[in-house]
Amino acid sequence: PLMKELFGLYRLEAELKAFLGVNHVIIVPGDADVSDWVKVEMGRAGARYLKQLAVPDQIVAVSGGSTMLAVAEMMMPTPAFKQTTFVPTRGGVGEAVELEANYIASLMAKRTGGKYRMLHIPDQLSDEAYQTLQKEPHIQEVLDSLKLARMVVHGIGDAKTMAIRRKSSPQVIDELEKGKAVGESFGYYFNRDGKIVHRVRTLGLDLDGLELVEKKVAVAGGASKAEAIVAVCSLVSQDTLITDEGAARAILKNA
Ligand code: G3H
Repeated sequence: PLMKELFGLYRLEAELKAFLGVNHVIIVPGDADVSDWVKVEMGRAGARYLKQLAVPDQIVAVSGGSTMLAVAEMMMPTPAFKQTTFVPTRGGVGEAVELEANYIASLMAKRTGGKYRMLHIPDQLSDEAYQTLQKEPHIQEVLDSLKLARMVVHGIGDAKTMAIRRKSSPQVIDELEKGKAVGESFGYYFNRDGKIVHRVRTLGLDLDGLELVEKKVAVAGGASKAEAIVAVCSLVSQDTLITDEGAARAILKNA
């Protein structure tokens, strides 16, 4: 709290909350693009927030990414978490396994004493595989539990960074450039107005399912994600944004 006062972060939180139309904003000092410890602090803030919100018998949907990994690494057991089921928002995404939603959901469960489900499916499915897999009872069950999620905690990526990290094809990269994609979340790439320009054909939580989730918590920082954060907040009715000073100042500078 003293640090926050020193940096004038409470005022920044109020300004960002008003600008983005998000119910709660938490800002940690620094810029994750510049120093690695800022992501660790966002992780700490995220873990603390999830703990405050947790109730017994809840389902928490969890996305992938290095910021979510930072959140998972800061989680601790609580009675409510022990009765929580962590479910990945999607299957594998063709990047390091530690950054996949499956791994992060399992890590959250391990650290808190909670339960978890897995979505053992590759991302970027062919038409045929998509149709077949969604009929698999085991997969159907996990997809159904995502629909019952009380909370979703997710990252927001810069479009280009994510496309490269996921080894997207040149055609996809071209499509993203033409559509002026700035951000990515849940396999959707969108432009600065929050319009979807590309979607990874994947099984998991989609935008319709997302609307059913009561509490949507995004954790994303670094000035380079400023446009992506603005776009996601206009696309999804975000309940909470946990970010850093670098992203917050960059967003408000262009406001
Ligand atoms: O979908 C968004 C990405 O998972 C964000 O990844 O936290 O490593 O930047 P990141």
